[in-house]
Amino acid sequence: MIITWDSILDKYVHNLTSPDGRNTFESTPILVENISQKANITNSDTVIDIGCGWGNLTRNCSLQSMRTIGIEPNVENLEEAKKRNAGYDIQYIQGSFECFNYDNKADIVVSSLVFHQVKHSCKIQALKNVKNILKNSGRFILCDTMIMFDAENDSQQFNEVYRYLLAKTTPPDIYKKFIAPYLQSEHIYTWNDMKKFTPKDNWFYSLSDMQNWLAKCGLYIADKVSFCPFFGILTIAGLEEEL
Ligand SMILES: C[S@@+](CC[C@H](N)C(=O)[O-])C[C@H]1O[C@@H](n2cnc3c(N)ncnc32)[C@H](O)[C@@H]1O
Repeated sequence: MIITWDSILDKYVHNLTSPDGRNTFESTPILVENISQKANITNSDTVIDIGCGWGNLTRNCSLQSMRTIGIEPNVENLEEAKKRNAGYDIQYIQGSFECFNYDNKADIVVSSLVFHQVKHSCKIQALKNVKNILKNSGRFILCDTMIMFDAENDSQQFNEVYRYLLAKTTPPDIYKKFIAPYLQSEHIYTWNDMKKFTPKDNWFYSLSDMQNWLAKCGLYIADKVSFCPFFGILTIAGLEEEL
């Protein structure tokens, strides 16, 4: 199973070292293509990419729409995005899920490999911000690592995924020093263990967490694609669209 998960992640996620030496991730062209298909952008759409990083997805959106905006909190990443996407019609804003620094409306919001980084206590506000910025017929295409099965009841699978993700997503030195030595070999790590022993901002979130948060913001999951049990793309729309 782990070999399959490795090959899925290799296909969709580049694991990079940024210029300042930090580990980071970037959407591959195949992932960008998958997100873009879900977004189904037309030329008149205003598109916002939140947490645009170095702008792979933003660049693709800008080829399909007249107005594309990349929002990113990190100044160095913004500068790198501008450099890599010179010649493309993209507006960049220093902002975040918590505070976009953008007041107009958007037809489509996209975001890839970012939402798990939003602090637990800010997740609902971040989704409310998306809801506020979207036009009534708008959609939010969210690609991220999230637990896509019933983690509370399927402990065996959660244990396997949890151990895999801890090793895969933690910087190697931190994993080696602070995590690996404390993982007990015989123990089945449950969803409740994660909540009991891990700081909230390091919890993985599940599809049902997402459904609960969205319900509080007048949003719902209109469509979902799972690449594997912990990674996929959601199409999120406003509840008024369901009526
Ligand atoms: C793993 S990179 C993904 C970059 C890009 N979206 C991609 O798929 O290639 C995560 C990006 O999210 C940004 N980020 C982190 N916290 C954020 C937040 N709260 N709101 C928006 N962006 C955030 C980081 O600065 C980083 O550029």
